[in-house]
Amino acid sequence: MSDVKLYPFIEGKNLSLCALNLDNIKLYASWENNPEVRKYGRNLFPILAEDFKKAFEESQGRIPREIGLEVWHNADKKPIGYVGFNFISWADKVGNIGLSIGDPAYWRQNLGFEATCLILDYGFNELNLQKITGNMYEMNYGSWKICEKIGMKRELMLKKNAFVKGKYVDEYEYSIFKDEWNQLRQKFDYK
Ligand SMILES: CC(C)(COP(=O)(O)OP(=O)(O)OC[C@H]1O[C@@H](n2cnc3c(N)ncnc32)[C@H](O)[C@@H]1OP(=O)(O)O)[C@@H](O)C(=O)NCCC(=O)NCCS
Repeated sequence: MSDVKLYPFIEGKNLSLCALNLDNIKLYASWENNPEVRKYGRNLFPILAEDFKKAFEESQGRIPREIGLEVWHNADKKPIGYVGFNFISWADKVGNIGLSIGDPAYWRQNLGFEATCLILDYGFNELNLQKITGNMYEMNYGSWKICEKIGMKRELMLKKNAFVKGKYVDEYEYSIFKDEWNQLRQKFDYK
């Protein structure tokens, strides 16, 4: 893994969002398979580095329905996770956020929050989405606390909608609209 920041796309205060880098697919696979990291994600099956390569190749030349960006730590000069949209409906102008700070050493340092602010800016003010959503399980406190800190609203609670670690758990969906974000963003120090 190189400490040279490749393909920077969006600059934040502590993080940059970069185009995904094929040289780092082994690192991405290590995050996805880490039991601590995938605990509240949706990856139930082992992932190979080659799966990332295949996904890159399949995404070429078509309008993307998903967008992934590497989360780069500016001070430590290394990738620590990724963020983007799991799904975009261009007709409805709605996107659903995906976020993983893949290296647990970087959890609880406000970096998930910063990455989410950067992706909201990108989604609303570059891609011109009108609504952005985020889904998570009830016990993924970090994930829904980020949404609440931003001012996203809990729009849905789906009772016992997922089977996680041996029990059925509730799932939440948070959302925010473009005009709401553009009012709120001025409060936050993420650029
Ligand atoms: C969930 C995740 C994105 C949180 O990222 P993070 O960088 O640790 O979160 P932040 O440091 O920005 O925290 C934002 C807020 O949530 C709180 N928080 C974060 N993790 C928490 C936890 N495990 N329990 C309670 N509160 C938590 C922080 O204290 C902070 O609140 P505060 O500013 O009031 O103190 C990160 O743990 C992760 O990537 N996990 C693995 C993958 C995953 O679960 N992704 C989400 C799938 S929906």
